Amino acid sequence: WGGEGHRTVGKIAERYLSRKAERQVKQLLGTQTLADVSTWADEVRNTPEYRSTAPWHFVNLPLGLEFPAFNQQLKAKTEPNAYQALNENIRLLADKKQPQEKRLIALKFVVHIVGDLHQPMHISRAEDKGGNEIQLQFRGEGTNLHRLWDSGLLNVQGLSYQQMATNLGQPDKKQAKIWRQAPMEQWFFQSYQLSTKLYAEALPGTVLDDQYYNTRIEDVRLRLGQAGLRLAEVLNNALD
Ligand code: ADE
Ligand code: ZN
Ligand code: ZN
Repeated sequence: WGGEGHRTVGKIAERYLSRKAERQVKQLLGTQTLADVSTWADEVRNTPEYRSTAPWHFVNLPLGLEFPAFNQQLKAKTEPNAYQALNENIRLLADKKQPQEKRLIALKFVVHIVGDLHQPMHISRAEDKGGNEIQLQFRGEGTNLHRLWDSGLLNVQGLSYQQMATNLGQPDKKQAKIWRQAPMEQWFFQSYQLSTKLYAEALPGTVLDDQYYNTRIEDVRLRLGQAGLRLAEVLNNALD
């Protein structure tokens, strides 16, 4: 996601933090909020110190896998990726023997990666760089499939992240439980299934208009809402 998407996820997560997790997040972040630090991982990915974290934002897999094969390949990947990085950073965050600075960096990566993995085009195909190389027209302007989903659809609404977090509403208890209890591999698989659909309906050169926006914005809203709730779940478990 772009900045407003990531900040929305951080803002939503704050609602669902346990007291204990909230206290520890405050201890690590000081005066900053989850929303404030949610884009840090994108800011450092091109610096020499953090260049090796550039692949931590996505997972590339061939399309067409059912869940068992997807799950297997996701876990078996050897090159750095979002799944591996998320698990490693959760481990560091939860380890109280780690120095505070290390746990703070881990927290910032966890906040960001949980957001990115819910952006469908971040769990997608290597050949077109997650849709970055699929050029499209959207509402009269040139863009690409990846950028459209990072920020193009959200920009149509023109809301701040605070407005977006409010405007998304909250799932009812039963729905929240379903979202929370899905295993992490399912969070990735849901993005993968959605990206498969998005590739099929937006071949290179497709001209998309408000009708695309109207049908797909609900998916954007769903993924941001799920990401916020699941981020809180990860933090509640890691910091309990
Ligand atoms: N680069 C290559 N694949 C990518 C993806 N799925 N998302 C973002 N950047 C990428
Ligand atoms: Zn992106
Ligand atoms: Zn990112």
